[in-house]
Amino acid sequence: MSSISVEPCTFALFGALGDLALRKLFPALYQLDRAGLLHERTRLLALAREPGSVQEHLASIEAHLHEFVASDTLDTTVLQRFLGRLNYLHMDFLDAQAYPALAAQVTPEAPLIAYFATPAAVYGGICENLAKVGLAERTRVVLEKPIGHDLESSRRVNDAVAQFFPENRIYRIDHYLGKETVQNLIALRFANSLFETQWNQTSISHVEISVAEKVGIEGRWGYFDKAGQLRDMIQNHLLQLLCLIAMDPPSDLSADSIRDEKVKVLKALAPITGEGLGTRVVRGQYIAGHSDGRALPGYLDEENANTHSDTETFVALRADIRNWRWAGVPFYLRTGKRMPQKLSQIVIHFKEPQHYIFAAEQRLQIGNKLIIRLQPDEGISLRVMTKEQGLDKGMQLRSSPLQLNFSDGSFRSARIPDAYERLLLEVMRGNQNLFVRKDEIEYAWKWCDQLIAGWKQSGEAPRPYAAGTWGPVAAVALITRDGRSWYGDI
Ligand code: BG6
Repeated sequence: MSSISVEPCTFALFGALGDLALRKLFPALYQLDRAGLLHERTRLLALAREPGSVQEHLASIEAHLHEFVASDTLDTTVLQRFLGRLNYLHMDFLDAQAYPALAAQVTPEAPLIAYFATPAAVYGGICENLAKVGLAERTRVVLEKPIGHDLESSRRVNDAVAQFFPENRIYRIDHYLGKETVQNLIALRFANSLFETQWNQTSISHVEISVAEKVGIEGRWGYFDKAGQLRDMIQNHLLQLLCLIAMDPPSDLSADSIRDEKVKVLKALAPITGEGLGTRVVRGQYIAGHSDGRALPGYLDEENANTHSDTETFVALRADIRNWRWAGVPFYLRTGKRMPQKLSQIVIHFKEPQHYIFAAEQRLQIGNKLIIRLQPDEGISLRVMTKEQGLDKGMQLRSSPLQLNFSDGSFRSARIPDAYERLLLEVMRGNQNLFVRKDEIEYAWKWCDQLIAGWKQSGEAPRPYAAGTWGPVAAVALITRDGRSWYGDI
């Protein structure tokens, strides 16, 4: 059992029969129950507007638990306890008449957690209806991404919610912030003086953040084609990772101290405009290709595709942060669908020693690298230079890893929780530091909007790359132009 104490709550999941809820949120809640992290009086309410009987929907949720909870963690006693907490309510979220029935199901005296796994267009309406039945005072609202499509639409959503809820009861999800290794990044940076003293332009030459996905659009064409990879991944996940790497040490671990520092980074990002659109950013779209011996369709041949779309499925860019710590240190970001493998990693490249005394031909491999791998095989590895062993090796150098692999060795006993488990737990605990504040979202949109406006103006189509490859060759040129290359296996 856990040492963390949790209060009871009513957890109401709006959009409970959607893909996110069934694949991620119910399994995450189940794992919290299994870990003893749901209070015995906590109740779960599945809210949806799909026709069908309560029994049918509850049975469907249970069937999805069997499908999406790892079988070695599916325990009959826990499952029965979990299902015993769960109720289903059929409701139209925008119909105020439906809310007294919801209010009647809320555990007295305990907070209500209202999780919106719905389109952002209805967030404001749900908030208004919660307020009408007097629930607003005791409610924390959880907003899924995407919050808007650009700065203006995100402001509309945020403003609509803010009419009924103060910022300290609004939890905006970016599930990357719940990933175990992302959490570890904070520990690594701020619990080790070793790194913090080197964490600047004096010692670091550049940073890479890569989030590669093997999957394509997976039946989400309707959403994705309007968004594209910049809005879907960079505006949120990759910029959040960049902020955690680049921010100054917060004065404490409170949500606002961390978020204040992240906002400073977002404000300091140099806009990519004019000439930079040609040299600092590459957009790509996958065409037919192969992976694991299987033929894959191009983006325009996916189910329900609009064959004229010029939406990007890949982006690589060079971001520059205009402040003392990072002046002259590029952050190379790269993310795409239909890459050869699923891989999210951050590589911090340290500069060469000031004075070099080894053989000239070995110089290329010099330079420490800190590799923070988010998925798969979560871990942190520091590449250090050592000497090849043996009498005959002279002073031949080699780069070797000092490695922390969270999925094996001394860490193996602890299961790595899914990001949503941690995020849901933190909402229940009323801790906002893994959630995104309104101004963070807005500065991130502002930076992305200027880039999108530049693309629109140039009218250039995305560059093709074969599905199952690492993106257009121009993405390689983007970094080699600066005399560097993407790290290692990619
Ligand atoms: C989501 C995006 O936010 O993150 C998806 O909308 C993407 O397009 C997903 O596939 C990636 O998350 P993860 O945790 O699998 O890297």
